[in-house]
Amino acid sequence: MSVFFGGAAFADAGKDLYNKTCAVCHAAGIAGAPRFGNAADWQPRLAGGTARLYASALKGTAKGMPAKGGNLTASDGDVKAAVDFMLASVKKTASASPAKPAAAPAAAPVAAAPKAAAAPAAMAAAPVAAAVAPVAKIDATANTSGASAADINSFNRLLKPIGKRNPPPAEDGIHDPANDGTLVLMAPLAAYGPLPKSLAGNRVNWVKAIDEKKINPRWDRQDANAAPVVIDLNIVREVKGSMPDVVYPHKQHTEWLDCSNCHPAIFVPQKGANAISMAAILLGEKCGVCHGKVAFPVSECRLCHSKKKEFRPAQATAPATK
Ligand code: HEC
Ligand code: HEC
Ligand code: HEC
Ligand code: HEC
Repeated sequence: MSVFFGGAAFADAGKDLYNKTCAVCHAAGIAGAPRFGNAADWQPRLAGGTARLYASALKGTAKGMPAKGGNLTASDGDVKAAVDFMLASVKKTASASPAKPAAAPAAAPVAAAPKAAAAPAAMAAAPVAAAVAPVAKIDATANTSGASAADINSFNRLLKPIGKRNPPPAEDGIHDPANDGTLVLMAPLAAYGPLPKSLAGNRVNWVKAIDEKKINPRWDRQDANAAPVVIDLNIVREVKGSMPDVVYPHKQHTEWLDCSNCHPAIFVPQKGANAISMAAILLGEKCGVCHGKVAFPVSECRLCHSKKKEFRPAQATAPATK
């Protein structure tokens, strides 16, 4: 992908804030965030003009963009500069010219203070960062070729051919190759070498890696001693038909994630209260908010469909599932 890094086109403040706050989600497209440098992701959002995008960045959106990316101490000017920085990354390829960055004063109608309603999303931001940052899991969604929005959730998006897996940071389409910091990062192939293997995603079994204490993800960016609240609660979801039932394990999730990453935005915390289907998951909803993006992909049926069906008399004549 040829990302446009025309240094003079935006203030450094925008780039700095992007790297510090926005990249966590916008580099890899966490939770559906439009990806840096990916014109297809941004194209549909350009219609309302730059002022609308500034407003979304400042106030947040109902679909998961936290106000100011969760960094409420950032100045409005820097947040707008970060938007400009992201727009510049797609300027070259976007057919409709997105922005007139000089038109900042025209964005005046941006409302004063973000309302409290944006708070839960903002609060969720930190744990997400803690969950994905320490182990560079975002490499799982590395998008090396400016792929289109259509393949975001395609079935085997993370089943990359050998040789295209885990490229060096400067070539992964996530990190800025012009940033000196990128060169300091350890290459994923070297970093992942000693970790337990899996057959999909970025080929690391992250659950085992934590169990075996091969990695020690930092829970809080500020507080090195903060520890997650792990609960060991399995939820079994019966599946009609021949597929084994789904066991949703809280333990493996709460080792990485905060309750607020899922409750209540993705799942109401009540067994059976959420309608979940494979179709929704493949569209990037429900379990698919993460699986296929920052967690193992949907191709690994047996990791979720792990519970053999109990013998139910109605099925007495059906062949047993293995
Ligand atoms: C915790 C994840 C997260 C962080 C951090 C984050 N974003 Fe977002 N952002 C999202 C998501 C998810 C969307 C898509 C939401 C939507 O469609 O309304 C989004 C969408 C946007 C959009 C497009 C909004 C629209 O209305 O089309 C802009 C602009 C944006 N983000 C700017 C920023 C800036 C600037 C920062 C850093 C200061 C930032 N984001 C940090 C998750 C994040
Ligand atoms: C990765 C997403 C995720 C995270 C993180 C998560 N949960 Fe859940 N939780 C679920 C799902 C999925 C269900 C089942 C919902 C259903 O069956 O419709 C659930 C159900 C529950 C239930 C209902 C149990 C019952 O028997 O009715 C409680 C209580 C709960 N979660 C508490 C928590 C707490 C406390 C945390 C943090 C320590 C947490 N959850 C973290 C996904 C999550
Ligand atoms: C907010 C993100 C998120 C959501 C939503 C989510 N997961 Fe996960 N899941 C993870 C992460 C992160 C891991 C650990 C890393 C990995 O295994 O790739 C994980 C691990 C798992 C594991 C453990 C596999 C093992 O090897 O022990 C199972 C099973 C699983 N998820 C099933 C589900 C199901 C079923 C749902 C929906 C009901 C769901 N997950 C929703 C992020 C999520
Ligand atoms: C990330 C976890 C996860 C993975 C991986 C996964 N499933 Fe599912 N699957 C679910 C959940 C959750 C449901 C909904 C169960 C329910 O009805 O509550 C489901 C439901 C189903 C159903 C019932 C019909 C439907 O669409 O809801 C079928 C069939 C199915 N899955 C097949 C598969 C196959 C085949 C694979 C592998 C290619 C697969 N699943 C991989 C979590 C997963």
